[in-house]
Amino acid sequence: MNKSVLDYILRVRLPITIFIIIASFTLTYFASRGVDRGIGYSPIQPINFSHKLHAGEMRIDCEYCHTGVEKSRNAMVPAVSTCMNCHSIARKDQPEIKKLRNYYFKDIALLWVRVHKVPDFVYFNHSVHVNSGIKCESCHGDVRQMDRITQVHSFEMSACLDCHRHPRQHLPYLKNVKHGPDNCFACHR
Ligand code: HEC
Ligand code: HEC
Ligand code: HEC
Ligand code: HEC
Ligand code: HEC
Repeated sequence: MNKSVLDYILRVRLPITIFIIIASFTLTYFASRGVDRGIGYSPIQPINFSHKLHAGEMRIDCEYCHTGVEKSRNAMVPAVSTCMNCHSIARKDQPEIKKLRNYYFKDIALLWVRVHKVPDFVYFNHSVHVNSGIKCESCHGDVRQMDRITQVHSFEMSACLDCHRHPRQHLPYLKNVKHGPDNCFACHR
């Protein structure tokens, strides 16, 4: 390559490219702000569903309802029909279950309030993490003790990177623990 062309690329094009990348991140960031409500966020849900009761006391597997965790990018929140596997009979006279059945029989979408969320410009995949042995608790806290879901860990970039760079500290229960990536394009594609 011609020296002056290279010089042009390095002095002019590269800074412009970097500027555009950073500017577009910053714009999408501000556009999608308010996505991560932060530690302690615990919104009231349309149905008073308790993980402590279902996943804790009744010991229903997380995967029974969150069918995507091992197979896909999203964990997925179950449809009302999953609840109806039991609540077509169980506790059908209780007020919260009457509400639940109303959603089902009138075919109204049950819009749970999303608790954990990363902005759209971030790539995150559940199956990769879960299949490498990382427990839900390491990112979501002890959900089996929660009546109402609460965010207990940070979902900011620094938190992802801290575990990727120091996996031993965050995942002491894993024998062969791999580092996660820390190059920008792993999470920003
Ligand atoms: C009987 C079905 C069921 C089981 C079993 C269950 N969940 Fe859930 N989960 C739900 C529903 C419904 C929601 C959405 C309402 C809410 O947030 O409480 C949810 C929400 C969540 C959320 C918050 C999602 C968000 O909006 O960020 C997390 C995290 C979660 N579950 C983790 C778990 C873990 C970990 C287990 C196993 C220990 C588990 N769940 C077992 C039904 C279930
Ligand atoms: C595997 C069976 C099963 C599934 C699936 C299930 N539940 Fe339940 N649920 C129960 C049982 C049994 C109880 C009563 C437990 C008790 O009180 O000891 C219960 C209790 C409840 C209660 C409290 C009712 C009261 O007494 O006030 C609510 C609300 C509830 N479930 C909502 C849901 C929702 C929403 C889903 C789907 C996301 C769901 N359940 C899925 C078995 C199930
Ligand atoms: C390495 C950290 C990590 C682990 C481990 C993890 N999650 Fe998540 N979870 C996240 C992140 C990050 C989000 C937000 C994803 C997004 O906004 O796309 C999330 C979101 C969710 C949601 C909201 C709905 C969805 O489809 O994204 C549910 C439900 C959930 N997780 C359940 C689980 C369950 C159940 C497990 C264990 C089997 C688990 N998670 C393991 C980090 C994790
Ligand atoms: C508790 C530890 C932990 C946290 C928190 C965590 N990760 Fe990871 N992540 C890992 C480990 C370990 C790997 C390597 C898995 C492997 O190679 O088997 C990984 C791999 C990845 C990969 C590469 C695999 C793929 O899916 O392409 C991406 C991307 C990623 N993580 C994104 C994120 C993002 C985004 C967050 C924050 C929202 C996050 N991670 C939070 C531990 C973590
Ligand atoms: C392990 C995943 C991961 C890696 C690697 C990563 N990021 Fe991020 N990044 C995130 C997450 C998650 C957010 C959104 C949450 C937040 O704003 O902290 C984010 C947000 C951002 C933002 C928005 C502004 C801000 O600071 O909140 C910029 C700009 C950014 N990243 C640039 C970069 C650059 C440049 C690199 C490479 C040096 C990089 N990221 C590597 C996960 C990652």
